[in-house]
Amino acid sequence: MAQNIYDTAEFFTEYSRLPRSVHGLDGAPEWPTLRGLVGDVKDQHILDLGCGFGWFARWAVQEGHAQTVLGIDLSENMLRRARDETQKAGIGEGIITYSCRNLEEVTLSELQYNLAYSSLALHYLPNEPLKRLLGQVFKSLVSGGKFVFSIEHPVASAPFDAFWKMGEDGRVYWPLNQYWDEGLRVTNWLAPGVRKYHRTVDTYLTYLIDAGFVLRAFKEAWEGLDLRPKLEEKGEAHRPYFLLVAVTKP
Ligand SMILES: C[S@@+](CC[C@H](N)C(=O)[O-])C[C@H]1O[C@@H](n2cnc3c(N)ncnc32)[C@H](O)[C@@H]1O
Repeated sequence: MAQNIYDTAEFFTEYSRLPRSVHGLDGAPEWPTLRGLVGDVKDQHILDLGCGFGWFARWAVQEGHAQTVLGIDLSENMLRRARDETQKAGIGEGIITYSCRNLEEVTLSELQYNLAYSSLALHYLPNEPLKRLLGQVFKSLVSGGKFVFSIEHPVASAPFDAFWKMGEDGRVYWPLNQYWDEGLRVTNWLAPGVRKYHRTVDTYLTYLIDAGFVLRAFKEAWEGLDLRPKLEEKGEAHRPYFLLVAVTKP
């Protein structure tokens, strides 16, 4: 049973305050790199898995001139705002469609999409449902179709206590442990009791290969990230936070 934390008041209020919720794609540091992986979407039929507020769907239509986008999400809160913003932008319902569905169980139409996209949603799925979903995505893409996604990097999702620490020498470190121990991590990110699923990089790649995909891009840093670590500061330079991947269906 998937946790629908985005439909709880406390979490939704906090999530709505994040820069990426207020400023959309411009508030997401990894977006320019993801956009590079997505490439040209003109006239495409697109699937957005865990579409949230629909920022990508609207970008694809307004800036990318995609033909249609189907945005799928579990949270009515997220979809309500997605629908409102899409209506305000004057985009018709037949162009962007939002559907409230659980990615763990979703069945997708065959050979329907040129691009499947998913930003920061797949780490909410346990292993078996993710494997199933990848099979559905593969089936739903046309030959040559692309799947581009971002996830929380497994180095970030692994630790039992995933918060920055400081050693006695004043240096900041990331407490990487339990890397090989895949499964549920319950964290206090924005609200207590948020359920996410950790799995290794090995498992992500194995699932993609087993589903039939061909790897095209694999990025652990976003363009412009300052990779010179400042040992006394918390910061993304100490460890990867996102993993950005592009694969294609042959
Ligand atoms: C971090 S938000 C990202 C939203 C959007 N993709 C973005 O990048 O702005 C994760 C989204 O995944 C959705 N989600 C989580 N688990 C899901 C599931 N099992 N089925 C469908 N959507 C899910 C959440 O409701 C939420 O909208």
